[in-house]
Parts: sequence; C-alpha cells; structure tokens
Amino acid sequence: MALAIVKETTVQPRSASKPMVCVDAVTMSFGDFVAVENVDLTVADGEFLTIVGPTGCGKSTILNAVAGLLKPASGTVSIDGAPVRGVRNDIGYLFQQDALLPWKTALENVELGPLFKGMGAAERRERATTWLAKVGLKGFEDRYPHQLSGGQRKRVQMAQALISGPKVILMDEPFSALDIHTRHLMQNELLRLWQEERRAVVMITHDLEEAIALGDRVVVLAAGPRSRVIDSFPVALERPRDVAEIKLDQRFTDLYRNIWSSLRGEVEKSYERHD
Ligand SMILES: Nc1ncnc2c1ncn2[C@@H]1O[C@H](COP(=O)(O)OP(=O)(O)O)[C@@H](O)[C@H]1O
Ligand SMILES: [Mg+2]
Repeated sequence: MALAIVKETTVQPRSASKPMVCVDAVTMSFGDFVAVENVDLTVADGEFLTIVGPTGCGKSTILNAVAGLLKPASGTVSIDGAPVRGVRNDIGYLFQQDALLPWKTALENVELGPLFKGMGAAERRERATTWLAKVGLKGFEDRYPHQLSGGQRKRVQMAQALISGPKVILMDEPFSALDIHTRHLMQNELLRLWQEERRAVVMITHDLEEAIALGDRVVVLAAGPRSRVIDSFPVALERPRDVAEIKLDQRFTDLYRNIWSSLRGEVEKSYERHD
C-alpha cells in the first residue's frame, strides 16, 4: 500500500497540554520480588511516550499498572486526574500477541468494544465498518483472522484499540512479531491514525529505533529487579514522520547514540544477571 506522507512541520507545543497519565512513586512487586521501584512518569494529553529497557526490567508490568490490570504495591496511577482502581473502558490496548477471536470476522472483532459498551447493532456495525476502512481493510470485513496476513491482523487490532475513542492508548511491543517491512508500514499507519486525533500514548518497546521514530519522548528504564527510570530524552523531530526515512536523519542518529549510551549499560547488566 502506498503511503503518502506529507512533509510539513507540525511540532506542537506539548508543555501547554494537561497531564493525562500520572504514575506517581509506583512500586510493583510479585511476592517478595520487587520488579520496579518508585517510578514516576507523566504523559501529557496528546503526547506519544515510548519506554525502552532491557528484557524483564518491568516494562509490561508498568503498562499493566496503568491499564488497571495490576495493582501497585505502593504509589498511585491516575488517568485524567482520576485514580486507576481497576480495568477501565477509556483505554485502548494494543498487544504483541494476536488478541483477535478466531471464530469472529474482522468486522465482528472490531465491533466487540462497542458491543461491550452497549452500543446498538446498527451503529456499532457502521462504526466498525468505518474503522476497518480507516486502517486500510475495506473489503475485508468478512474475513476470519486466519484468512488475514500478520500485518492485516495488526490493522484489525489497531481498529479495535481506537474505535472507542480512548483517552489513552497503551501498546506493549505491538509490532515486534512483524517482519521489518510490515513493521515500518504499520508504524507509519499508526502515526497517521494518531496524527488525526492525538491521544496520550504509552508505548513499550525493546527497539530503540522504533522508540525514537515514533515517540515525542523516550524514557529509559534500568535493568531489574527494582527497575526505575534513569533517563528521559525529548525527540525534537518534526511530524509527520516516515519511520524508514527518519532513521537517515543526522538528528536521529545523534539521538540514537545518546540514548544507547544510557541504555547499553542496563542491557549489559541484564545479561550478566540472567545469562
Ligand atoms: N506474574 C508474575 N509473577 C512473578 N514475576 C513476574 C510476573 N510478571 C512479571 N514478573 C517478573 O517481573 C519482571 C518484569 O517483567 P515484565 O514487566 O514482563 O518485563 P518486560 O516487559 O520489561 O520484559 C521480570 O523479572 C518478570 O519475571
Ligand atoms: Mg514485556
């Protein structure tokens, strides 16, 4: 699919935006094991935050706390000023794994969120059809997941995550199972959709290039246990961005070098501890 990326400078000031996600002194434990300790993170409304860190440092754990799936041992998480006390319906969640129901068509899968919210059949069908078209799957409404490619299934998942107009979009390594070309395509698609209606995004990735190409800011986590935030780097690259092209930009490579010098030691520590 050809993607028209309009080249224009649209860096919006983020400082004026209100905080949408606040992670305040959060510690996450599993029994005696302290996975992350005293983590503070604030994501402004409309900000695309990416989090990198070595495998097993607690990235998914933090995201699950924001989603209300795990309860912090101490500290608080709030969304739009209200404390998170359980699973919420104003969050869109995009996982690495295929989370589609295999016995439902693409359209029925996208309809699930609105269905759970009690939306009437005609309206949710119409919304789901519109969203499938938005993610480039017009004509694929009646396909079952096994009749779709990995990239197409990811598109269905994006429609699922976005259809309800969530305040916050959480993504846990959503593209890591895709081949590099499909991954670039999906990353560009995601940016295009996000640009239309900017939400607060928290994306976890172990891929530093992806973190820089997509994010407004990259946060680095320390090796676990007791992982914490060790650095935060603003990404002052204009949007819209083409993720494949932006990697050739000198500012990108400079930023990559800076962040890698912070991340590298943590990755090495993580290997020493686990291998
Ligand atoms: N349910 C659980 N029970 C016990 N330990 C867990 C559980 N979930 C995660 N952990 C541990 O917490 C740490 C962080 O895990 P996770 O957040 O999945 O890391 P990441 O997403 O950064 O790879 C790891 O050491 C992992 O083994
Ligand atoms: Mg994880």
